[in-house]
Amino acid sequence: MRVLIVGSGGREHALAWRINQSPNLTRLWVAGGNAGTAALAENLEIRSADIDGLVAASREVAADLVIVGPEGPLALGLADRLTELGIPVFGPSKAAAQIEASKSFALDLMRDAGVPCPDFASVRDEAGAQAYIQNHPGPLVVKADGLAAGKGVLLCQDSDQALAAVKLCMSDRAFGEAGEIVVLEEYLSGPEVSVFAFCDGEHIAPLVAACDYKRLEDGNQGPNTGGMGSFAQPDFWFPQLASEVEQTIMKPVLQAMAERGSPYKGVLYAGLMLTDAGPKVLEFNCRLGDPETQVVMPLLASDPLELMLACAQGNLDQISVQWNDKNYVGIVLVSGGYPDEYQTGFEISGLEAAGPEDTMVFHAGTKLAVGGLSSRPITAGGRVLTVVGGGDNIDQARRRAYSRLEQISFQDARWRQDIGSAANQGTAKAKG
Ligand code: AMP
Ligand code: GLY
Repeated sequence: MRVLIVGSGGREHALAWRINQSPNLTRLWVAGGNAGTAALAENLEIRSADIDGLVAASREVAADLVIVGPEGPLALGLADRLTELGIPVFGPSKAAAQIEASKSFALDLMRDAGVPCPDFASVRDEAGAQAYIQNHPGPLVVKADGLAAGKGVLLCQDSDQALAAVKLCMSDRAFGEAGEIVVLEEYLSGPEVSVFAFCDGEHIAPLVAACDYKRLEDGNQGPNTGGMGSFAQPDFWFPQLASEVEQTIMKPVLQAMAERGSPYKGVLYAGLMLTDAGPKVLEFNCRLGDPETQVVMPLLASDPLELMLACAQGNLDQISVQWNDKNYVGIVLVSGGYPDEYQTGFEISGLEAAGPEDTMVFHAGTKLAVGGLSSRPITAGGRVLTVVGGGDNIDQARRRAYSRLEQISFQDARWRQDIGSAANQGTAKAKG
């Protein structure tokens, strides 16, 4: 198969790495890409918002399958355009991608389908927000409805904070158009987990789960980021919980989407909170998670191309999908100053070292420096690398990942010391 992956982060490098092992692969391209994907595939310089460019490239390379990493091009209708041309695509249509692109769409769908989610209201003006806030004293969560690059979620401890958050979205337009509609939600608590359902519009593959770390500093302190680390598999992810999530969340959503005339194909990512009243959905995403993909791809025991093509073509029920029972920990190295301002262009050393058994380094913000006889990877973004280690348990995986990380350096590199540590894992109560 001739395969084109769209995107340029650690998620896409991990996809390219796993797909590169497939006996079904003949040639691989990455639209975007980084210094890591350049070693496995041919990178094409196309921005992920350039839908015409992506469609043209898919035709030029005669792709048998296009795999879309980020939500942006899906929300812009890339999958619809490719489907019209008869090119199989892994990723949902524009209508189905609404499940991530509009929080109120997702919440309405969940309410209709009876899927457990926080109590909520979506409002179009400050007066509507004030009414809900008055009736719901205490902590609330205020969210800009649209895509806000992970920044449009404001956790408010009381009504005053909630009113200020609404003003930030609606009057100050801190998140632009994304804040024209605002969602107010009940404040839930409990351990969080990212669950991934590969689906073909009707059928669902066995679920896989991972946890990510959003805060910059150890002990979950500091500002939110695009992700500082991840691990799989969570110690509370037992078959009973997986089955509950499939029956009460994934299946009803798939059915509701099909009934609305926009069957969901690709991967449905549910961000769940495991509350005392059972798992509830905080958000859906229409794609794989980053940095979760970096620890999930090594778990995939089945052929990745067969899986993704079946999702695109609607015959997922005819193949067998299996996840192995190993564990992986991924640590993200970021540029000093991230998530605010940071410098790039620093040489990265230690990438070629052999490293301990079962370790991988996935690139994100890197590129090959031009000039000289050999090209060298340099930093080119805020999130630079995800260093992954595997093992029979999380502790072994974590030790391997950190010892691989010690071999790597670049100026001003930062990372968390506590990814996958027992202190973090232990926060979840077993439900199984
Ligand atoms: P989201 O982008 O909706 O997943 O929100 C980002 C983060 O905000 C989540 O990972 C949670 O930690 C937190 N969050 C979102 N919604 C709620 C909620 N209703 N109650 C408590 N925390 C929430
Ligand atoms: N890991 C969070 C996300 O991909 O949205």
